Amino acid sequence: MSVRPIRRTGRPGGAQATPYTRWGGAAFFEALVDRFYRGVEADGRLRPMYPADLAESKAHLALFLGQYWGGPADYNARRGAPRLRMRHVPFAIGPPEAAAWMEHMTAAVRESGLTPGDQEELLEYLAMAARSLVNTVPSRRVAGSPGDAEDRPHRLLELGVVEPGPGPEHGGGVGADRDP
Ligand code: HEM
Repeated sequence: MSVRPIRRTGRPGGAQATPYTRWGGAAFFEALVDRFYRGVEADGRLRPMYPADLAESKAHLALFLGQYWGGPADYNARRGAPRLRMRHVPFAIGPPEAAAWMEHMTAAVRESGLTPGDQEELLEYLAMAARSLVNTVPSRRVAGSPGDAEDRPHRLLELGVVEPGPGPEHGGGVGADRDP
């Protein structure tokens, strides 16, 4: 699938309408991000990574997603090129953090009122993007040590955060230097 932003010009209801226009424009992405952050706020795995005041974090994510799905280039105007890999480097994002992020995003998308087909399209992109932002390798389970590491891959598979088979580090998937 393409990882480039959708750049068609939108005509509401027409054949050229972008997802941004069809889904309800800025208001759709703001509401989606509000629901997502409600999940993040209550999540001890993710909340400590974010600033105390989430207003700017919400605005940036909503603008980015709107721009990606064919809306105005307001994210770029405000923040410059997305460079999401670079912007996430300060945060230790392993598969568990990506799974937690996707958990809240999946709940937010499921409540969005989009058609099942559009939900899948949006979630497929978000899962791909979340996988591409993993920047921390989980520590390996030492034989005989306690921990639930052995259970994790199954849970991540269920959540769609990891896929069976070789990951990007084995030559597949999204390039490490590319923006989601
Ligand atoms: C994989 C799990 C992820 C984690 C743990 C995570 C965490 C974070 C954190 C802690 C911030 C900083 C918030 C702030 O300073 O206001 C941030 C910013 C951001 N994230 Fe993520 N993120 C994840 C995935 C994603 C994905 C998949 C996308 C896009 C589809 C995304 C898009 C953004 C954007 C646009 C920003 C704002 C960047 C800026 O302009 O400063 N993130 N993320």
